[in-house]
Amino acid sequence: MKTRTPISVYISVTIGLTIMAFEMFASDSGYFSSPFFWALILITVILLMIMNSIGDLIENDSFSKLSEDEKKEYLAEKSIPYYQKLWNSAFKKQSVSEEKDILIDHGFDGITELDNSLPKWWIGLFWFGCIFCVVYLMAFTFTDYAHPDAEYTKEAKTMLASIEEYEKTAPKISLETAKYSADNITEGQELFKTNCVTCHGDGGKGGIGPNLTDTHWINIKEKSLFKNVFWMLENGSPNNPTMRPFIKEGTITGKDAEKIAAYIYHINQESSPITVSQGGAAPQGEEVKWENGNN
Ligand code: HEC
Repeated sequence: MKTRTPISVYISVTIGLTIMAFEMFASDSGYFSSPFFWALILITVILLMIMNSIGDLIENDSFSKLSEDEKKEYLAEKSIPYYQKLWNSAFKKQSVSEEKDILIDHGFDGITELDNSLPKWWIGLFWFGCIFCVVYLMAFTFTDYAHPDAEYTKEAKTMLASIEEYEKTAPKISLETAKYSADNITEGQELFKTNCVTCHGDGGKGGIGPNLTDTHWINIKEKSLFKNVFWMLENGSPNNPTMRPFIKEGTITGKDAEKIAAYIYHINQESSPITVSQGGAAPQGEEVKWENGNN
């Protein structure tokens, strides 16, 4: 009669596998606080305990039918701790008499071989691997599980939603509230490169759109340079639709415009103009003396 695996092993393996399944298929770690998850664990543990009690009854019954010697042997076996037995089954060498029982003799070539049964942990791992493979394949085929593109779309959606939420509560920056800050110049430069460089050239030297580094301007709508640029970004050019109303059409936000305007203030007022001889576009419009410093 074989000794039984302790209930604690069944319980920990089952809980481990349950957590693994939830980790694989739940959308996030929220299941840990779900009553459904804990109810499932509780029911599983109760079922395992019932199974164990039935095992106890069967064990007692079979034990009473053993001979005295068999009883002694069984009790001795049972007194060895489970993990020690597991360890022994994996690494301990058999005695010579035990080896004799499992020896396969090829006969003709003189090679002998031991027909060991595989260790329990190995068989357990093997079956776990097989079952995992089936579950994984099914999940991959029929659900979104382990599909990077599906995961990406989902995460991107959550991110966009949180950005939208932020935009809703963040104070809107308008022509009245926009403020120059030297900290915005670097980010403004990046935004300029993505949105404006195609027409206004590297560093704002001009091209399809006018040179933004010089003293001449076509559109003079505000008293300060910073606000004038913001005005242009909000409304576009009244004379030339090529310069679009970037904020109104939703290409950039007021916050972006605040950064870009800081950058343009910087290249216009804090750096020397890119002249025609340096590859800049010729001045257009009239010469302006901006008021109000940088705001
Ligand atoms: C598709 C080409 C194009 C793009 C892209 C473009 N602009 Fe313009 N921009 C122009 C043109 C053309 C004008 C001249 C409008 C006019 O004649 O009134 C202009 C005018 C301006 C003016 C006023 C200059 C003046 O002398 O009156 C500013 C400031 C300006 N753009 C900034 C920007 C910024 C900042 C961006 C990027 C967010 C940008 N533009 C993107 C074509 C463009």
